[in-house]
Amino acid sequence: MSFDLEAVRAQFPALALSDNGMRRIYFDNPAGTQVPSVVANAVSDCLLNTNANLGGYFATAVAADAVVLSAREAMADFINAPSADEIVFGQNMTTMTLHLSRSIGRLLQAGDEIIVSQMDHDANVWPWVLLARDLDLEVKWLPFSAETYEFDLQVLDELISERTRLVCVGGASNLIGTINDVKTICAKARAAGAMSFIDGVQSAPHIATDVQDMGCDFFVCSSYKFFGPHQGILWGRRDVMEQLEPYKVRPSPAELPWCFETGTQSHEGIAGITATIDYFASIGSSMATEYASEWSQFSGRRRDVHAAMSLLFDYEKELASHLIDGLTSIAGITVQGVTAVDAYDRRVPTVSFTHASVAPDVVAEALAHQNIFVWSGHNYAVEAVKVLGIHESGGAIRVGPVHYNSKSEIDELLEALGPILAT
Ligand SMILES: Cc1ncc(COP(=O)(O)O)c(C=O)c1O
Repeated sequence: MSFDLEAVRAQFPALALSDNGMRRIYFDNPAGTQVPSVVANAVSDCLLNTNANLGGYFATAVAADAVVLSAREAMADFINAPSADEIVFGQNMTTMTLHLSRSIGRLLQAGDEIIVSQMDHDANVWPWVLLARDLDLEVKWLPFSAETYEFDLQVLDELISERTRLVCVGGASNLIGTINDVKTICAKARAAGAMSFIDGVQSAPHIATDVQDMGCDFFVCSSYKFFGPHQGILWGRRDVMEQLEPYKVRPSPAELPWCFETGTQSHEGIAGITATIDYFASIGSSMATEYASEWSQFSGRRRDVHAAMSLLFDYEKELASHLIDGLTSIAGITVQGVTAVDAYDRRVPTVSFTHASVAPDVVAEALAHQNIFVWSGHNYAVEAVKVLGIHESGGAIRVGPVHYNSKSEIDELLEALGPILAT
C-alpha cells in the first residue's frame, strides 16, 4: 500500500474542524503542527493514569519512569541514536540550546572561533553569539547565496581555522526551506577538530534523521513541529556529552541524560513523543513497506519510522512542486527559495514568497479571513531576511504544507491569493 492521504487525515481531529462554517487549512505547520488522536490520548493517559514524579517506589512513579524511558527509546529510533540514554528532554529547542551552550562554553576559551550561519533560525544563532560575547570568542558567519538559497561550502572551508571549536547550522531552513548538506558540514567541522551543533527543528518533520550517518555532535529538535506535543529534544554524542559540565542543582542525578534535564519535566509531553514516533511507525508498516529496503540496516520500529519519513518526503515533494508551480504563475510573486524542478530533494515544502506590491502581513491577514493559516514576517530567521533584502519590507509570506495537507488545499490557497494580490 502506498500513501493514503485520507487515512492519514482521519487520524488528525483538528483537520476536520471549521470556524464560522469555514474549513481550516493549516499551512502554519513550520510554526507548529496538529497532532493525531493517538498523541492527544497518550498525553491524556499520562495525566490521568501515571501522573507522578520519577524515581519513587509506588505504582504511579514506577509507571512515570517507564513513560520517560519509552520516549527516550522512541526518539533514539526516530533519529538513529546509538543509545536511548543520549536523549535529553526539555522545554523546547531554544531553551535547551541556551542551557547547553553554557556547558559547551566551559570547553572554550577566549580567542576560540565559532561558526554560525546567516540562514539559521535565531535559536541556533543568538545563544552562540551571546556565548561568544561572554567568553570573548570570535563569531564567523557562514553566508548563503540569495541566488541559489544554499551555502557555498567552499566558503566554509575558508572560515574554518585551527581555532574553530564549534559549527552551528540547521538541517533545513524554516524560512526558505533549503535542506542543508549537514553531513558534509559536520565532516568538515570534525576534520578541523570542531564540534557540530545541528538544529533539526525543520528537517525532522520532513526527512529521515540519522544522527550517526550525519556525523554531528549535537542534534536538537522539537516534537511540536513533527505532530507531537510541545517538547524539546536534544541528542548529544556520548563522548562529547561526557566532557561537558552539566549546569544542574546538587541533588539531581549526575548521570547522562538526567544531568542535562533541569527540574521536573513535562511527563505528559514526553508520553506524547512516544505516541508520535509510533504514529510514524504505523505509517511505515502500513503504507511505506516498499521504502523499507532503503533502511535495511535497521529493524523494527527504527526501520518503520525511517521508511515512513522517506514515503512522506516523496509525497511532500509533490506538494512543494504543486505549490511552487502555482505561486510562480501568479504575476508579482517571487518565491524566496529553491524552485528548480530537479532540486526538490534539496528543499522541504516550506515555501516563502513575497509580492511586488502587497505586504506579507496584509496577505497573511487576508488569508486568515478565509481560514487559511500562514505566517508572515521573518519567522525568527533574522539574518536570512536581511540577506534576501526583504527585512525592511516585512519579510515573506510562509506557506508550510506537511504530509497531511492536500493539493486541493494548495489550490484553494492559490485561488484565494488572486483577489488578495489584485487589491
Ligand atoms: C529552525 C528552527 N529552529 C529553532 C526553532 C525554535 O524552536 P523552539 O520553539 O522549540 O524553541 C524553530 C521554531 O520555529 C525553528 O523553526
